[in-house]
Amino acid sequence: MSFWLMCHILSTTTFTKQTQRDAPEENLNLTNAIILSMVPQAYHKYLISKNKSLALNAGNNSSSNKSYSQKLLNTKEIQQRIEEYNLNQTVRNEDIFGPLQNDSLVIIVQVHNRLMYLRHIIISLAQAEGIENSLLVFSHDYYDEDINDLVQNIDFCKVMQIFYPYSIQTHLNQFPGESPNDCPRNINIKEAIDKKCINALHPDSYGHYREAKFTQTKHHWWWKANRVFDELNATKNYAGLIVFFEEDHFVAPDFIHMLRLMEHARQSYCPNCNILSLGSYIKTVDFAANSKKAEITQWVSSKHNMGIAFNRFVWEELKSCAKTFCTYDDYNWDWSLSAVSNKCLSHELNTMVLRAPRVFHIGEW
Ligand SMILES: *[C@@H]1O[C@H](CO)[C@@H](O)[C@H](O)[C@H]1NC(C)=O
Ligand SMILES: *[C@@H]1O[C@H](CO)[C@@H](O)[C@H](O)[C@H]1NC(C)=O
Ligand SMILES: *[C@@H]1O[C@H](CO)[C@@H](O)[C@H](O)[C@H]1NC(C)=O
Ligand SMILES: *[C@@H]1O[C@H](CO)[C@@H](O)[C@H](O)[C@H]1NC(C)=O
Ligand SMILES: *[C@@H]1O[C@H](CO)[C@@H](O)[C@H](O)[C@H]1NC(C)=O
Ligand SMILES: *[C@@H]1O[C@H](CO)[C@@H](O)[C@H](O)[C@H]1NC(C)=O
Ligand SMILES: *[C@@H]1O[C@H](CO)[C@@H](O)[C@H](O)[C@H]1NC(C)=O
Ligand SMILES: *[C@@H]1O[C@H](CO)[C@@H](O)[C@H](O)[C@H]1NC(C)=O
Repeated sequence: MSFWLMCHILSTTTFTKQTQRDAPEENLNLTNAIILSMVPQAYHKYLISKNKSLALNAGNNSSSNKSYSQKLLNTKEIQQRIEEYNLNQTVRNEDIFGPLQNDSLVIIVQVHNRLMYLRHIIISLAQAEGIENSLLVFSHDYYDEDINDLVQNIDFCKVMQIFYPYSIQTHLNQFPGESPNDCPRNINIKEAIDKKCINALHPDSYGHYREAKFTQTKHHWWWKANRVFDELNATKNYAGLIVFFEEDHFVAPDFIHMLRLMEHARQSYCPNCNILSLGSYIKTVDFAANSKKAEITQWVSSKHNMGIAFNRFVWEELKSCAKTFCTYDDYNWDWSLSAVSNKCLSHELNTMVLRAPRVFHIGEW
């Protein structure tokens, strides 16, 4: 990793020459040139938007300017497309890479609307050794043609898109979005009871009422796990590992290899480790000394929530604790999983975690 970062820094010093040779547009500015110089030529296509212009500075929020490529769809049209995708269950590139095997890897990326970030996790996945044997599932809670174009352009492994059908985008004025009779966040319980608003008797741990926008991540996480483990034809009989990422992560080129090493080591050293974790948020680690080391520890939501992997056996246990997961007061999924570990499972979640992370949070770096 230190080597990889160093390469990036070195390569930025040679950007001038490269851009003179490679630049697809004359008006490339310095920032674009530096970003491009860090991405191998073969993957520049993931940085180019449909209208053929570079998408480097488009911001991290794809909804900020729609006018260039997206026909604006209304809610009903979006719902129809979502339904069609979910019904079709199309696995792209299966003709090239063959059907999923139990010793392959299923990779799920939970995607909201940060197109720019998504470009970078895709570029990092493209460079991972062994990626050609995996099935990459994008689970969306925001329908966007630019995101679809990007994902459908992927040619380095099998790809599938699933769409969370209860998103705020398609439920703007109804549950699980905001509904007219929701209690306002800040009123007290007496006012709420007088108003007879929904769930008046159940404010959260801080005495506030539900805020629709903070519920989506968790609902989506649970939905996609159910969908992939239990429902999709392509994966419902799959017996191997599933690894979970989010749109603002990126991965190191050897992450699949490291997962395999951990999976193998687990059998001899830690049969109780139900979760494999590709890293925590540590920023100061001696990569050379720790590159092949892992630790065994209790699973801690705030430390081990990036790049976790588990199999169907563990999923069945989590599912039996659905009630604990779903009723825990949380705006993300990780503390809910912690609650499952502490309050419901017969033995808590243990993790084998890499000392030198193979997954990074774009925001942090
Ligand atoms: C490069 O372009 C982006 C917008 O296209 C702009 O925000 C940024 O300031 C430019 N950088 C330089 C060094 O000109
Ligand atoms: C293409 O899209 C970019 C934003 O990604 C925009 O800045 C540019 O003006 C568009 N070009 C054309 C020809 O529409
Ligand atoms: C990107 O997102 C961060 C917060 O997630 C925000 O502070 C920043 O302004 C955003 N940048 C753009 C260009 O939208
Ligand atoms: C994305 O941009 C749109 C339009 O500028 C804004 O309304 C929305 O709040 C932004 N979303 C995020 C997550 O930043
Ligand atoms: C959106 O993009 C179009 C085409 O590039 C541009 O003409 C327009 O000014 C942009 N709008 C905003 C709000 O940035
Ligand atoms: C779903 O399958 C039908 C029939 O093969 C096809 O016409 C349609 O384009 C597909 N839709 C999507 C979103 O994949
Ligand atoms: C899923 O598999 C069942 C049983 O083989 C089949 O009938 C169904 O058409 C398949 N669905 C899709 C979307 O491939
Ligand atoms: C994977 O393993 C499961 C359970 O052992 C089995 O039912 C399934 O057929 C296997 N799938 C493949 C593709 O071998």
